[in-house]
Amino acid sequence: GGPVYILAVETSCDETSVAIVRDGKDILTNVVSSQIETHQRFGGVVPEVASRKHVESITWIIEEALDKANVKPTELAAVAVTQGPGLVGSLLVGMVAAKALACSLELPLIGVHHIAGHIYANQLVNELEYPFVALVVSGGHTELVFVEAEGRFRIIGQTRDDAVGEAYDKVARALKLPYPGGPHIDRLAHEAGEAVTLPRAWLEPDSYDFSFSGLKSAVLAALNQAAMKGQPLAPEAVAKGFQDSVIDVLVEKALRAVRAYGAKQLILAGGVAANKGLRAALEARCAEAGIPLLAPPLSLCTDNAAMIAAAAFLKYRRGQFAPFDMKAEPLLKL
Ligand code: KG4
Ligand code: ZN
Repeated sequence: GGPVYILAVETSCDETSVAIVRDGKDILTNVVSSQIETHQRFGGVVPEVASRKHVESITWIIEEALDKANVKPTELAAVAVTQGPGLVGSLLVGMVAAKALACSLELPLIGVHHIAGHIYANQLVNELEYPFVALVVSGGHTELVFVEAEGRFRIIGQTRDDAVGEAYDKVARALKLPYPGGPHIDRLAHEAGEAVTLPRAWLEPDSYDFSFSGLKSAVLAALNQAAMKGQPLAPEAVAKGFQDSVIDVLVEKALRAVRAYGAKQLILAGGVAANKGLRAALEARCAEAGIPLLAPPLSLCTDNAAMIAAAAFLKYRRGQFAPFDMKAEPLLKL
């Protein structure tokens, strides 16, 4: 057949995004409307506010995406949407919009897992080779996923408490940095001379799981103690100590998983993949070990609908369509 154009909708958290992608590979348009400014004054995402914002923007973003891509609605092959996980109110807005569009255009509907989207963002820029291991790091997720074949995911490790991005945002808040704090900590860590010494949560020797809440508490305790002594810590040194600890554990476990599972590639995905320190450390260690490392450009690391369209294309080829009573699933399993 001809080219397959998929329109995808992503509203799982605080970005409203609509994309049109050809053959799961070529991005015709990827409109992302961030609500960050709205949530900044609350210091984090407020679910009620997020869903209201999605309602306000989803219609014009769909129109803008169709305009920009120069694709007629009748040329679309399917409509895809993030089914979960995410904030239920936010997911619902995308779900309703996608269903309405698919219904009125008589197109099939495809439900996509948000993490599958983050992983297949790499398909937009790289050639994937199975089996691979994906390190998914975002505001809501910290997972090591073994992907044996197309669409066959096995979670081999995950966080037992805070997600990496969540820990970044909480530490940033303690340092009085704006939300989201990840990029600010990343920047400060690079400006730092020395680092505050902080613990690493390795957990059991054979475990691929992560834990970041202890590290976050250690940061808060160090800040408080230093302040009480009247010798406040330099934010740069705290940022570097925190980031070094996070990166050590992420890199070590990811490389161990690649070896143990005989993976052909290591894939980095999710918003925290934008972290310069993490990228540099993974690049160095992978180069040393001869492991191909794939990571999407920064614009495709954070939440966007092009990644949902990329993952949806694989389901389209397999005829894995969703029923029209598909429900938004805030805790959807991969
Ligand atoms: O994937 P994403 O856009 O949304 C979720 O699905 O969570 O990830 C957002 C998270 C936020 O916690 C943000 O602080 C973090 O990614 N982040 C970073 C960086 N850029 C974004 N964390 C560390 N370093 C960065 N450069
Ligand atoms: Zn995400």
